[in-house]
Amino acid sequence: MPKIIYVDPAGARHECEVKNGLSVMEGAVQNGVPGIIAICGGGCACSTCHAYVDEAWVERVGGPNTMEDATLGLANDRRATSRLTCQIEVTPELDGLVVHVAQND
Ligand code: FES
Repeated sequence: MPKIIYVDPAGARHECEVKNGLSVMEGAVQNGVPGIIAICGGGCACSTCHAYVDEAWVERVGGPNTMEDATLGLANDRRATSRLTCQIEVTPELDGLVVHVAQND
């Protein structure tokens, strides 16, 4: 299983094994990573699964589609590396992915 590394808003690292096909958000929720609230359950409607993709991974992960881009407009402190983690599917290519959880509330 790919390993996803979540850095929570307090700076703590959580290295989690996440099944292929789940979203990065689902992996965080299953592992109790603080800061990924995911109120809408992955529907791309709430922005409370917002995280910053680590610079080293931005190219591989890619950017948001139009719908995600619109929902990201609701997020606190949006940056160039912002993504909604419910919209990133875990694949073998993302083994070792690092995401920095945003201040979601
Ligand atoms: S869980 Fe609501 S937008 Fe991702």
